Amino acid sequence: MRKLAMVVTVFAVAVFGALMAFAGSSPTLPQSPALSDSLTAPTLAAGDTANLRGPRQPVFFRHDIHAGQFKIQCQYCHFAVEVSQEPGIPSMQTCMGCHLVIAGSDSSSRAEIAKVRDANAAGEPIEWQRVHALARHAHFPHMRHVKAMGPNACMTCHGDVARMPQVFQVNNISNMGWCITCHLERNVTRDCSVCHY
Ligand code: HEC
Ligand code: HEC
Ligand code: HEC
Ligand code: HEC
Ligand code: HEC
Repeated sequence: MRKLAMVVTVFAVAVFGALMAFAGSSPTLPQSPALSDSLTAPTLAAGDTANLRGPRQPVFFRHDIHAGQFKIQCQYCHFAVEVSQEPGIPSMQTCMGCHLVIAGSDSSSRAEIAKVRDANAAGEPIEWQRVHALARHAHFPHMRHVKAMGPNACMTCHGDVARMPQVFQVNNISNMGWCITCHLERNVTRDCSVCHY
């Protein structure tokens, strides 16, 4: 048991170290002009979420902090996106890889991270509200799109998630016209049976 705790801690510290080295270098060494330090997330507290677009979540988990400011890759958390229909929402283990050691730097983030740690200690998953959900008769294979459309594909359909404090739908996905318009433009099949089965 002790050994396992050690291993987990060493792993978490390694991830944390890599992250901090990366984050620490970004303001002084912008890798590309477009990405300089302009992604610093605004200061917001959980009480502000009611004014943000998109469904309110049980924990104020911020993409603008994780994917924006700290530049954690989308695939680090949504790791199934290139191999599966569903990108998947990350499990508790993915969060705890960092949050066993990262407790938060201000009272608002500490309070929200405490909810994540409590849920983990209780062995309960966080019940995230879905932002996008197609009707059951329509099927959307993520991996096909991400393979064909390349690394910036997420943004084409989901908008600039890395700047969103709370995720909202940028495109109305529950609308066949949206799918068909792009398939027409890119000369992709419009055969009913590829989407409806
Ligand atoms: C640190 C982990 C993490 C990273 C990195 C991350 N996400 Fe997420 N993502 C989540 C979690 C947790 C949720 C569910 C809670 C929510 O909706 O905010 C989520 C939800 C989403 C949703 C809404 C899902 C739904 O219910 O429809 C989209 C879209 C999304 N992420 C896209 C992205 C994109 C694009 C990136 C990269 C720019 C990214 N995510 C990076 C953890 C992450
Ligand atoms: C690769 C490391 C990493 C992973 C994985 C990660 N986080 Fe974070 N998280 C951070 C860092 C760094 C901060 C900023 C802490 C600070 O300075 O307050 C943060 C901040 C937070 C905060 C407080 C700020 C905010 O976003 O509102 C919450 C809540 C949070 N994380 C939840 C989660 C959840 C839930 C997951 C899993 C889906 C997760 N984190 C996965 C590194 C990570
Ligand atoms: C061509 C448009 C398109 C692209 C590109 C795309 N998505 Fe999606 N995404 C969707 C649609 C449509 C849904 C709803 C699917 C459903 O409900 O079955 C969705 C749903 C999601 C969800 C929630 C599904 C779940 O498993 O809970 C996440 C997370 C997500 N996308 C992340 C990403 C990430 C990360 C990328 C880039 C690597 C990406 N998406 C690229 C259209 C797209
Ligand atoms: C922004 C452009 C874009 C949008 C929007 C889009 N698609 Fe696609 N879709 C593509 C591309 C490009 C491919 C071709 C992938 C390949 O060549 O493998 C594709 C392929 C597919 C395939 C596989 C087709 C086959 O030959 O088997 C399905 C199924 C599909 N899309 C469903 C959807 C659905 C459902 C939606 C709307 C919810 C949607 N797509 C929205 C660009 C898009
Ligand atoms: C590229 C994917 C795609 C193709 C091709 C496609 N559909 Fe759809 N279809 C969708 C999506 C996405 C929806 C909306 C699902 C939702 O409401 O969440 C939809 C909705 C529908 C609906 C329900 C309409 C409504 O208002 O709810 C019908 C009926 C339908 N499609 C029939 C067809 C027929 C017939 C064809 C062939 C001529 C076809 N679809 C081709 C993706 C597709």
